[in-house]
Parts: sequence; structure tokens; C-alpha cells
Amino acid sequence: MRISVIGCGYLGAVHAACMAQLGHDVVGIDVDERKVKLLASGEAPFFEPGLPELLSQASATGRLRFTTDLAQAASADVHFVCVGTPQVKGGYAADLTYVDAAFEALLPHLGAGDVVVGKSTVPVGTAARLAATLADAAPEVTLAWNPEFLREGFAVQDTLHPDRLVYGVASGAAGEHAVEVLDAVYAAPLAEDTPRLVTDYPTAELVKVAANSFLATKISFINAMAELCEATGADVTQLADAIGHDDRIGRKFLNAGLGFGGGCLPKDIRAFMARADELGADQAVTFLKEIDAINVRRRGRMVDLATEVLGGDVAGRRIAVLGAAFKPNSDDVRDSPALDVAVRLMELGAQVRVTDPEAGANAHAVHPDLDVTTFDAAVDGAEAVLLLTEWQQYRELDPDALGERVAARHVLDGRNVLDPGRWRAAGWTYRALGRH
Ligand code: UDX
Repeated sequence: MRISVIGCGYLGAVHAACMAQLGHDVVGIDVDERKVKLLASGEAPFFEPGLPELLSQASATGRLRFTTDLAQAASADVHFVCVGTPQVKGGYAADLTYVDAAFEALLPHLGAGDVVVGKSTVPVGTAARLAATLADAAPEVTLAWNPEFLREGFAVQDTLHPDRLVYGVASGAAGEHAVEVLDAVYAAPLAEDTPRLVTDYPTAELVKVAANSFLATKISFINAMAELCEATGADVTQLADAIGHDDRIGRKFLNAGLGFGGGCLPKDIRAFMARADELGADQAVTFLKEIDAINVRRRGRMVDLATEVLGGDVAGRRIAVLGAAFKPNSDDVRDSPALDVAVRLMELGAQVRVTDPEAGANAHAVHPDLDVTTFDAAVDGAEAVLLLTEWQQYRELDPDALGERVAARHVLDGRNVLDPGRWRAAGWTYRALGRH
């Protein structure tokens, strides 16, 4: 198939590379020249395991190219719209500027029989609105909504081997054509028996936000239990293991700690609340307000714990923050709980030194005032070590060796990944969220 991918951020760059890997002829289009140059030279503009290898393999086959020239979409028959839908400034709703602009710019380059496929996460009702625009401007083109469920850090694997495929399509012949085209695009995963669900537009749009809301709810549920564990002396990791053995509940996404961040879960649940409000269905998702509040509360609790172990005041104290990315195996710092805690401590006057294996440059770009440094410089002489993003190398830290370098043996485990017994035996004060 001949495919264009509009928007080459986390979603689009991975999608373009994976579509070429599946054997399609792909052009990736983005307005950002720097990004296009990097991608065209086989380099990933962000850290994503497996992506650089895929980009260089694909460019070598000649099946993948990148450009800033949208007119090159004209050579394709299937157009994936992968642009961002960030949170609007000062509100909860999704900003659809980029989606609308991409559709408008694409219109003159569409040919009869083309399928435009929305992948961006949008408020329910967007696809129907865009389909109406297409019906007026390009009646021989059909729209499908095909949400993406990839996780950063596993984006390549999730795209090549998805859990499920969801096609939101129009009714009648146009919808049937879209299904046929998408089946051809995804022939390889479908051959692996990937479940495929064909729905209408609003269902496909809702699947995405419902899935993310459920995941956020699971995390905030266990973090609410962590608050009770703190109040009672119970251990949230044992509690999660015990309830997780019930397969109706499941152990995944029950890791208590600093909570969720990133470019998706926080903004998606907020945009969902905003959209439900517009639809007069706000009561149906009032609980998400609580999910968000529990999540944000954990960050404050970490700041309080640091204050407590440092004797009631962090001002002037040396704190090492391990982790700036919103999760391991990513350099993404969007709504990062780790970075938020680091900044709050800095604002309280602490001498914070943040380190991260991949996200240092991004952390510095958003908070130039924050001291982002190497691991060694962060921990040497620290009076408290806060593990806030659970990179493998931090999970494996040796308490004896680290103890030689710090000024005081205080460790705060924001992700419940260290063995408290081992750290205490090495003379550390061990504190965590939801366990004692
Ligand atoms: C998420 C969804 O998983 C993915 O399906 C969707 O397409 C986009 O949003 P992502 O943002 O990459 O993916 O990260 P994810 O792995 O879901 O983690 C989100 C956040 O939750 C991270 O900050 C992570 O640290 C946190 N988390 C996750 C927990 O606090 N506890 C857990 O048990 C799991």
C-alpha cells in the first residue's frame, strides 16, 4: 500500500517506520524541519527502543522517506493523521488546532478512493464532524478512525503486534471500502490473529479514552489504597500482589507510587471530562476528577516525606533525584511526576540535583533553572536520595556502594522498587509511598 503519515511525533514516527517494516511504501510528513532531517537520516528525534534500527532498515529499502512537503501525500492512497492533541492552555479540553489544520491542508492532495485515517486521540464527535467536512469537500474520499494504543518504551512492539485493532468507519459502501483498505494495511498483524473490531466513529473514539481512563483509574485506585496503608501501617505492594492474583483484577497497572504522568493519561482523562461536560454527561465521569486528584496528591506526599526525613525543612539541603522521565525507557518529561517533585523541592529552597539516563536534555529544556546532571554529581554528598523513575539501573543500585558516596543514608523509593530490608540492613533510612 502507498501510505502517508501526517505528523511525525512519538506516534507518527513510529507508525511510519512500522508501516514501512510491514512492507508498505511510506512518506512521513511533518512541519518541523529538524525532525524531518533527523528521521530522513535514519535517526530518531526521541528515545524509543528499537526505533533507530527500524528507521535505518526501512530507509535502506527505499520504502520510507520523510518530508515537510505535504503535497507529497498525493502519491499515497491511505493517509494516517497522527498529529498531537495537547491540553488547551488554561483548560482541560483537547486542542484540536493541529488535527483541523492537518485535515484542511490534506484536502487538496486527496484523490478518489483515498482513505483518511485518524489516529490522534480526539474528543468523541470529532470524526463525525471531520467526515461531514470531507463529504462536502472531497466526496470520493472516506474517513476511518483507528485509535492507537501504543505505550512509549514499547511503541515498536505495540505497533507491529497490537493487542487489538479498532476501525471506526462510516456505514454502507464507504465504510466497507475503509475496512478493506485497513485490512490490507494491517495484513501482517491480522495474520497473527490480532482481534479486529469494526465500529462506528463515536465508539472508536470512546474506546481510546475509555481504555486510558480505566488504566488511570487502576493506578489511582492502588494509590488510594497506598494512602490507607500509610494511615494503618499496611504494605501496598503486598496488598497489590494479593488482590492481583484474582484474574478479574489482575496485577498489571497496580504499581503504587508517584502515579501516572506522560503525554496521554493525564491529558486524556481531563479532555474526557471536558467533553462529557459539553455533552451534558459530566456526571458519568465525575469519578475521573477524583482519579486525577489522587494522582496529583502522591507528588505532594513525596515532597512531605523528603521534608520529614530531612528534619522538617528542605531549604539548603542536598537532594539527589533519580529520574526525570515520566517512566523508564523514555526521554519524555511531559507531565512527569518525577520532574514535578524535583521542581517543588527546588522551589522550597532545596539544592536539588536531578539525573536521568535519557531525559536530562528534555528536563533541562523545560526547567533551565533545575540542576540536571550526571548520576555521580547528583548522588555525591547528597543528604537524601529520591528514586522517582524506576530505570533498571536505579532498581539495581547497591546500597553499600551508594552509601559510601552520600552525606546521609536516606532513601525515598517513589516507585516501590527497592528491597526495604536490604537497604535498612545497609544502614539506610528507607521510606516509600504506601509501605513502611
Ligand atoms: C499510555 C497507555 O498505556 C497506552 O495504551 C496509550 O496509548 C497511551 O498512554 P504511556 O503514556 O506510554 O501509555 O505510559 P504507560 O506505560 O501507560 O504509563 C503511564 C504512567 O503510569 C507512567 O507515568 C507510569 O509510571 C505510571 N504507572 C503505570 C504507574 O504509576 N503504575 C503502574 O502500575 C503503571
